[in-house]
Amino acid sequence: MGYGRITGWGKYTPERVLTNDDLGRIVDTSDEWIVARTGIRERRIASDDETTSTMAVEASRRALERAGLEPGELDLIILSTLTPDMIIPPCANLVKDALGAKRAACFDVFAGCSGFIYSLVTAYQFISTGAYRNILVVGSDVMSRQVNWKDRSTCVLFGDGAGAVVVQGSDVPTGPFGFTLGSDGSGADLLYVPGVYGRPQDNPDGHHYISMNGREIFRFAVTSMAEATRRVVSDVGLEMSDIELFITHQANERIIQAVARSLGIPRERVFMNIERYGNTSAASVPMALSDAIDQGMVRENDHIAIAAFGSGLSWGAMVFQWNKGK
Ligand code: UT7
Repeated sequence: MGYGRITGWGKYTPERVLTNDDLGRIVDTSDEWIVARTGIRERRIASDDETTSTMAVEASRRALERAGLEPGELDLIILSTLTPDMIIPPCANLVKDALGAKRAACFDVFAGCSGFIYSLVTAYQFISTGAYRNILVVGSDVMSRQVNWKDRSTCVLFGDGAGAVVVQGSDVPTGPFGFTLGSDGSGADLLYVPGVYGRPQDNPDGHHYISMNGREIFRFAVTSMAEATRRVVSDVGLEMSDIELFITHQANERIIQAVARSLGIPRERVFMNIERYGNTSAASVPMALSDAIDQGMVRENDHIAIAAFGSGLSWGAMVFQWNKGK
């Protein structure tokens, strides 16, 4: 048996900043509308040389350095993404090779914007069985290549980036830990990108852009993240007032505020960086966690709750105690 702790964290964002005013020159939108409806002011856009794997590698190097771990010591790499560089091979293999993580097993997790939580929970399972000790968990997405830049209802929401954590196992017990994961395939048509191998008649235009029912997704986001967080906090025997830091998928400031309100978590305990990065999909939770730690918002023994929702439909929440001792 082993106990998992996050010992390293890091994020990477492309240099290029796309502001709301820049978007106003591409589609019929305005800074005022985007800020009022989403809280987003700018997002990062990958250069032609950057991909999900290159961004993942940069974030991973930072996380490994912070953990004081060499790539060769990794047992497993789990990469969550919706925008792999290629369909075959899995993107995690490209990351593994670029890092030089010679003995690591690796695989991709394709679970929408909930993917990082699914991946992190999976990492903890390998550690709790004692199978692995050193796991890299990454979320990386180049959403700028998945949106239709002519569709103002989606293109203003997304951005590119990557976040990574190192989870290490030890024999020293940790504090409260719990998770809940969920899915509902009946909502698949609320947020989707047509596939390469689907029925041709279902995608006569042959595009691979995001389609979304914004209002329904908004409702689903608030209820699923609030319910999942409520459940997991109670499962581990804590009260909502014990949660020192709440980090959710950064999809819309109004969604995050509505979830926090419903749970009674005050604003100062809720971390947000959506203003600067928009929705970076699978990268959003690890990027937010990394920023929160770097900004000194996480103290020893704090109880952290994270929650996400996404296409699928899918959702997940996790509670853990921040403690560095190995
Ligand atoms: O990772 C998960 C990803 N998805 C999400 O998290 C999406 C969740 N949903 C949302 O965040 C919100 O539903 C949106 C931000 C997408 C939209 O906000 P809303 O308050 O639900 O607006 P709406 O869709 O009801 O649209 C209101 C109006 C419409 O015009 P009419 O029909 O009232 O004349 C839209 O055409 O706003 C219009 N509109 C825009 N106007 C300016 C939609 N997009 C834009 C835009 N700029 N970019």
